Amino acid sequence: MRKETGLFDEMHKTLDELNGNGILLVTGDPPNLMTIGWGTLGVIWHKSIFTVMVRPTRFSFEKMEKSKYFSVCILPEGFEKQLALCGSKSGRDLDKIGVCGFTMEKGIRISTPYIVESTVHYECRIVHKHRLDPGTLDTAIDKRFYPKKDYHMVYYGEILGVFRNEKVG
Ligand SMILES: Cc1cc2nc3c(=O)[nH]c(=O)nc-3n(C[C@H](O)[C@H](O)[C@H](O)COP(=O)(O)O)c2cc1C
Repeated sequence: MRKETGLFDEMHKTLDELNGNGILLVTGDPPNLMTIGWGTLGVIWHKSIFTVMVRPTRFSFEKMEKSKYFSVCILPEGFEKQLALCGSKSGRDLDKIGVCGFTMEKGIRISTPYIVESTVHYECRIVHKHRLDPGTLDTAIDKRFYPKKDYHMVYYGEILGVFRNEKVG
């Protein structure tokens, strides 16, 4: 049973997890999972926005480019192996959902599914995207994070709902 909750109730924990073992980005039809560690939560255009950053080399990038929606799932403790797998193997080579043994359920406001085992999930609609511009990027960041010039695409997701699993976490 999932209950709607508020962005401001969840954002600190979500940012902690982003900065820790990561959280899972779910996108595409059929869906793919990818661990993300970078992103922001905030308010733009009077909307609650979740930005996620996806390098163009990822299978998830292909999925995102064809999608209008994505979901973001925060797992409870004990799923470190699954987060590591989804952050090191590509959905091009592996059915990550099957290998992790996750149960997927259709979103509450979007068709993109969420992971039933997650504590909290966000449902987002892509309202904007842009590629990082090396011309305006700090040169130290450019040198450190983009030796291959594979600049992230930044996707801005309007948060249509934040839902908490009443039984977990
Ligand atoms: C903790 C962690 C955080 C990560 N954060 C990101 C991220 O924010 N953006 C990104 O493009 N890749 C990130 N990655 C790398 C992808 O998760 C990884 O390349 C994954 O295998 C891509 O899967 P895919 O090809 O199925 O999309 C992260 C990996 C880990 C382990």
